[in-house]
Order: sequence, then C-alpha cells, then structure tokens
Amino acid sequence: MTEAPETTPSRRALIGWGGAGLALGAVAAGGAVAMARTGDDVVPAAAGTGAAIPFHGERQAGIATPVQDRLHFAAFDVKTDDRAEFVQLLKDWTAAARRMTAGQSVGEGAYGGLAEAPPDDTGEALGLKPSRLTLTFGFGPSLFEKYGEAFGIADARPEALAELPKFAGDNLDKNRSGGDLCVQACADDPQVAVHAIRNLARIGMGKVVIRWSQLGFGKTSSTTPEEQTPRNLMGFKDGTRNIAGTETDRLEKFVWVGEKDGPAWMAGGSYLVARRIRMHIETWDRTSLQEQEDIFGRDKGEGAPVGKAKERDEPFLKAMLPDAHVRLAHPDSNDGATILRRGYSFTDGTDGLGRLDAGLFFLAYQRDPRTGFIRIQRNLALDALNEYIQHVGSALFAVPPGVRDKDDWWGRTLFGKEA
Ligand code: HEM
Repeated sequence: MTEAPETTPSRRALIGWGGAGLALGAVAAGGAVAMARTGDDVVPAAAGTGAAIPFHGERQAGIATPVQDRLHFAAFDVKTDDRAEFVQLLKDWTAAARRMTAGQSVGEGAYGGLAEAPPDDTGEALGLKPSRLTLTFGFGPSLFEKYGEAFGIADARPEALAELPKFAGDNLDKNRSGGDLCVQACADDPQVAVHAIRNLARIGMGKVVIRWSQLGFGKTSSTTPEEQTPRNLMGFKDGTRNIAGTETDRLEKFVWVGEKDGPAWMAGGSYLVARRIRMHIETWDRTSLQEQEDIFGRDKGEGAPVGKAKERDEPFLKAMLPDAHVRLAHPDSNDGATILRRGYSFTDGTDGLGRLDAGLFFLAYQRDPRTGFIRIQRNLALDALNEYIQHVGSALFAVPPGVRDKDDWWGRTLFGKEA
C-alpha cells in the first residue's frame, strides 16, 4: 500500500480494457490483465506477483477472473432507511474499493492526517501489494423486503431473488445466513482481504452492520483450468469441470444475466449463492479409500472419472454409483444446469466436542438460481456425500454489473434514477 494521492490511472487506456471479455482474453494470452502499482504508475504484471486486477469493467471482478487463494466474505444488514444516506454509502464504498483494489490506502491514508481525528485507513495493509484483491458486491432479498418502499426499489426486485427454498438435510444457523448486502473479498494475501472488509465496515458504521462473515483459505475451484486443480479438505481435486474464465459462450449462457432476463438493472450481473457446508472430517478420515472414491465418482489421485484414466476425460455417468456426487451434480442429470463454482475451504477452530469446525464455504455464480443452484441442490438430496456434510449457512445475492469508470458506483443501475 502506498500513501500516494489517488490518480485513478486509466487502465482502459493502458491495456485496451473493454470489459471482462477482453480481460479474460488477456488472461488466456498470458495473464496480462493483472497490473502492479509502482508509485503512481500502473504497469502490466503477471498474475501471482502481487499484481492488481482492474476494478472497472463491464462485469464485476471476482466472478470469472482467476480465483485467488484467500477469501474474506461479509454479509451486511442495512440500518438506515434514508435513501440518500444509503446511496452515499454505496458511492463511498465504491471509492474505497477502487483504491484498495489498486493497492492504495482508503481516503487520506493511515497516517499523516489530522492528529485529532482517526485516520481514514486502518493501516494493516501498508506495505503490502495489491495481491490481486477483488471486491464483489451484491444485494440480498431482505434488502427489498425491509427497505423496498423506503428506497423506492420494491418494484425492481428480480423474480430470481426469491429466498432459497429449504433443502433436505439443511441445518441452517440464522446467524450465518442471509444479509441485505454482501461483499466478497478475494486476494492472494489474507491480510489484504481482511483489511478491505474491515475498512468497508468502518466506512459503513451507523448505516450498515456486519451480520456474519467467513474467512476462507485454499480455493476449492478455479476458473483457470490450465493451472493445477486445487483440492478440497476431503483431499479430492475440486473444480475440474468448472466453467473457465475464458469460456465466453458458457459464461453468457450460464453466468451473466442477459438483457432480456430482466430486470434491466441486473443485465450483465449474476446471482451468487453462498452456503457454509460443514464437513464431518473425522468420520470422513475413517472412511475407506474405495468408499471415498465411490462417493464422488472420481479417483483420489488423478481425479479421473470412474472407468477413465485422466482427470479431464469426459465422465461416463452410468459407470458411477447412482448416488455418486458427480453423477447427481452433472448437467446431464439436471436439465443442463451449470454453475460457476468459486468456493473456499474453511477451518474455524473446534466445536467443543473435539471436532474441527471445518468444511467448504461454497460460492456459486449463475444466471438464475432457479435453473442453477436450486435445480442441482434438489437433485443432491440423494447424494452419498450427505452422510459427511451438512449445510449450516445460506445466502443469496443479486450481483449487479461492473463499475464502468471513475464516475460509476456499486448499485448505480438500481439506484441511479431518482425514486
Ligand atoms: C462439501 C460439499 C462439496 C464437496 C466436497 C464437493 C466436491 C466436488 C468434487 C470433488 C467434484 C468433482 C470435481 C469437479 O468436477 O469439480 C465436484 C463436482 C461438482 N460439484 Fe460438488 N462438492 C460439494 C458440494 C456441491 C454443491 C452444494 C453443489 C451444487 C449444488 C455442487 C456442484 C457440483 C458440480 C456442478 C460439479 C461438477 C459435475 C460435473 O459436471 O461433472 N457441489 N464436487
């Protein structure tokens, strides 16, 4: 982090940024989308070198962009019914997000300002690189329920933003579920992600309050199939058949909300389902290798589907047991339903009974949750994996399109017009 004044360098000019499509093309061409700050200049740099991911674009970063290693996810509840105050918060958050994703401090920085006032930035990210920080913002169904009238947005609620239904086996903790707003902070450095959420919460004091939050380490899915597939806490490769960030056609079909889908303010956005899934790690660790492999329908070493040799070989579903996870989750078993998974492992200490409170913080983006997550999760009612997992937290958010330039702000397509 530097204390340089905000210069908002034009990344569009520098790399010909024209939205996610181009940026993703750049990733495919060698990771040129990532940028590193040196003083006030922005120069292209390879991913994984502490670089910055462009904040401005047609789509929000943090969905199809390469998945970083660390997560801090926060759900907020809104505490003001004053529309103007809330809109100002969205603008203030955007300004702070723009700076933090570029590796800059919030506002006037962490020191050097008025001695009598608390600094604008909390300071713990000073000296750290941008670390590919992405901040992805969304609105929850409860925002429309609680503040639809006060904010003049009641009629703008998307039909797709209905509360998720109850699924077989759910054991949801309301203190880890829901939320009027969300911010997903992903970065290669956990301190950079935590700093971002903390500073947004600080800026929102009195107007929003954190309802719940989740730290994640170790991505369990990726959008970059050319890299090694990460493994989840059950030891299996996870994300093999995920949508890649370069698959523009599949992203259009399954992830981005289309112009005609409605409402207009969501065009170019996506819907995010978050599920905190606890794993019964200790029971899993006493399960035979054969059973573990049967449960997923893939082998543990290579990650190949049953009867096949290589991880990327096309799964032959009928060779798997009827209740194998991959067989039940596959698009062919769900009328073609396909989602972009972007989850992380978590370990939040122990549960007081000598067991790890660990699992998968499942994050999935889709064009419509009714034909995405809900469709698949219903089919997973019979999943053999259910004996070893339990869904304990749940939330759904409408993630609007990207912040296009320095005058744009999170939620402008919803709140930009006078109520
Ligand atoms: C702790 C819970 C879970 C674990 C450990 C887990 C693990 C895995 C693993 C190891 C694979 C195979 C590799 C791959 O293609 O990614 C897989 C595939 C998949 N999972 Fe999960 N998963 C979990 C929960 C879920 C949930 C809740 C959903 C959605 C409702 C889901 C949807 C999928 C899909 C769509 C695939 C790809 C199927 C295919 O196209 O072959 N998973 N999962």
